[in-house]
Amino acid sequence: MEDLRGRVAVVTGGASGIGFALAERFAAEGMAVVVADVQQDALEEAGDRLRASGADALEVLTDVRHADQVEELADRAIAHFGAVHLVCNNAGVAASARSPVWEVPIEDWEWTLGVNLWGVIHGVRTFVPRLLRQGDGHIVNTASMAGLIPAGGPYGVSKFGVVSLSEGLYLELREAAPDLGVSVLCPGWVNTRIAEAERNRPPELAVERDDSVAARARKGLGRVLEAATAPALVADAVVSAVRERRFYVLPHRDEEWLMPVRERMVDILEGRNPVRRPVPGSDVLMAAMVEAE
Ligand SMILES: NC(=O)c1ccc[n+]([C@@H]2O[C@H](COP(=O)([O-])OP(=O)(O)OC[C@H]3O[C@@H](n4cnc5c(N)ncnc54)[C@H](O)[C@@H]3O)[C@@H](O)[C@H]2O)c1
Repeated sequence: MEDLRGRVAVVTGGASGIGFALAERFAAEGMAVVVADVQQDALEEAGDRLRASGADALEVLTDVRHADQVEELADRAIAHFGAVHLVCNNAGVAASARSPVWEVPIEDWEWTLGVNLWGVIHGVRTFVPRLLRQGDGHIVNTASMAGLIPAGGPYGVSKFGVVSLSEGLYLELREAAPDLGVSVLCPGWVNTRIAEAERNRPPELAVERDDSVAARARKGLGRVLEAATAPALVADAVVSAVRERRFYVLPHRDEEWLMPVRERMVDILEGRNPVRRPVPGSDVLMAAMVEAE
């Protein structure tokens, strides 16, 4: 989609981090923006900030885990702006404590897959038929480098799922509707509030756990994210990909991030077993854990 001016974007998880940066960037390109998020106060603040910068913005309180709420989001966006052209299925969470996969509480699986994977599935099922009727548009699904490198646990499973779903969608739309674009966004570390994702965990999926372990994990991740890429740079990469109709969007292109992806592919092709390879920030994460012990 070359010309963004006058078009309408929907961004889930748009009240913070990468989602808010996308909304700001789309507004700067002259798009109207629908910001969807589960956190009411942050959502209102995001809408106010966008309008203060001169943008035409609408906020819709949405929990992407629920198909009916995503349908309602689409209906409200279209009722308000008349159409939707660019959809970013971006909302995502990460549980604050990691456990071996066999010990992960069922609530962590349900919450993480509910937001990160089902949220994207609902976004695709809701918006793609509308874009097909309209005849043009672009979908951007937020995965992660954790969708390309084994990260394990609910987060890694959700992001591998988003990559696979998006690849399938791309291939199917290329045949069915070549004017619709699809991209999958796979960032490395980005300076956002994802280390505090527990702020939006629904109470019915609460987990009793050792607070000190969760605090240690949060602290380590927080420290890595503080020094990480600004969300605005990720938004730049997304806008270029939408304009150029590029599918894979990897804002972190340094060899430290690309090497583990490449090596994993070679392991698979050469029949080698998985290897744990460090990614940037692993040392900082480990140091924060040890320091907090
Ligand atoms: N920050 C990183 O290092 C990083 C790296 C790779 C991928 N990602 C992905 O980027 C996306 C955005 O995360 P972020 O880093 O900007 O974090 P963030 O916490 O700053 O923003 C995430 C937003 O999603 C919202 N959200 C949470 N649950 C929701 C739900 N059920 N329905 C609707 N909205 C919900 C939150 O309220 C928040 O506004 C996520 O999919 C995340 O997995 C982040």
